[in-house]
Amino acid sequence: MSNDLAIETTGLVKVFGSNRAVDGVDLAVPTGTVYGVLGPNGAGKTTVVRMLATLLRPDGGEARVFGKDVVKDAESVRSRVALTGQYASVDEDLTGSENLILLGRLLGHTKPDARDRAGQLLDAFGLTEAAGRQVKNYSGGMRRRIDIAASILNTPDLLFLDEPTTGLDPRSRNQVWDIVRAVVSQGTTVLLTTQYLDEADQLASRIAVIDQGKVIAEGTKGDLKASVGSGAVHLRLRDAAQRPDAQRVLAAALSADIVLDADPLALTATISGTRGDQGAAEQAGRALAELAHEGIVVDNFSLGQPSLDEVFLALTDKKKPAGPSAGTGTETTDVKEGAAA
Ligand SMILES: Nc1ncnc2c1ncn2[C@@H]1O[C@H](COP(=O)(O)OP(=O)(O)OP(=O)(O)O)[C@@H](O)[C@H]1O
Ligand SMILES: [Mg+2]
Repeated sequence: MSNDLAIETTGLVKVFGSNRAVDGVDLAVPTGTVYGVLGPNGAGKTTVVRMLATLLRPDGGEARVFGKDVVKDAESVRSRVALTGQYASVDEDLTGSENLILLGRLLGHTKPDARDRAGQLLDAFGLTEAAGRQVKNYSGGMRRRIDIAASILNTPDLLFLDEPTTGLDPRSRNQVWDIVRAVVSQGTTVLLTTQYLDEADQLASRIAVIDQGKVIAEGTKGDLKASVGSGAVHLRLRDAAQRPDAQRVLAAALSADIVLDADPLALTATISGTRGDQGAAEQAGRALAELAHEGIVVDNFSLGQPSLDEVFLALTDKKKPAGPSAGTGTETTDVKEGAAA
């Protein structure tokens, strides 16, 4: 058992009836980092978090938090962790400020200390103006921020953030991300669950992708991206008649899957990983230059991150037994030579 691990699980299992919600999960979360657990609805993320936070008893396997068993040493684990939205039960009828002071008092702070800490947190989370308002009148983003503030009243060694930004607008998501970064800079380890690849990308140093209760990929962001492909290039041409040529040029320049969109002017190319030492942006730049060179006019261009859908497609594709065309990723490249004008 390494002392550098905040969380270590081996073969963790949780069964609900006949549903193996968590089906043999191994995790190793280094201390002092943000660890992302990425997965779709029902993957088992919350169930893993609840077992680690001692709220749910595992049906199999082992889980340790800072070396302590979550079942046998539950008390000790509980003293070092916080879970947003669970332990930190914010009362809707109280104001933001009242909530934080009350929780501070419950945690044993003196009244002046509780007031000071509440003031600091409200300030740090941009909630000073809303401090005197009832939480039930907060926006989704404000609500998420007060939840996190409440869970770090006493700086925990390990903070579980279960989908902290689901449903938030981009500005509120950025605020929450800044808060997570600030929490980690104070030495807290964060286990963050999310359905968004970009969120894991922004915050996490390592990521486990889980699906149907199993870890289907694990590694650094770089590892994951390399295994998934680094981006999708969306192009819109000026002239639909040039699309077959564009498709041919892109297929050659990117050795990528080219998908013809329903819009007759549009194409999408998925760039798979790095090519030599070229990243996605560099590859896309070169492809654009090739198109210009061939006299193909591009009206609109964007380079997007792979979506979670694409991640899952790529990862589940890899799990299929290798067949004649498995894993080559060329099935959708449909360059019809004869169609070129
Ligand atoms: N208390 C419970 N009783 C019965 N089944 C449950 C219970 N909690 C979770 N499940 C089931 O376990 C599976 C995993 O659920 P879980 O909530 O862990 O997923 P999740 O990854 O957190 O999903 P989401 O992104 O929607 O929050 C699901 O099939 C869910 O229906
Ligand atoms: Mg969940």
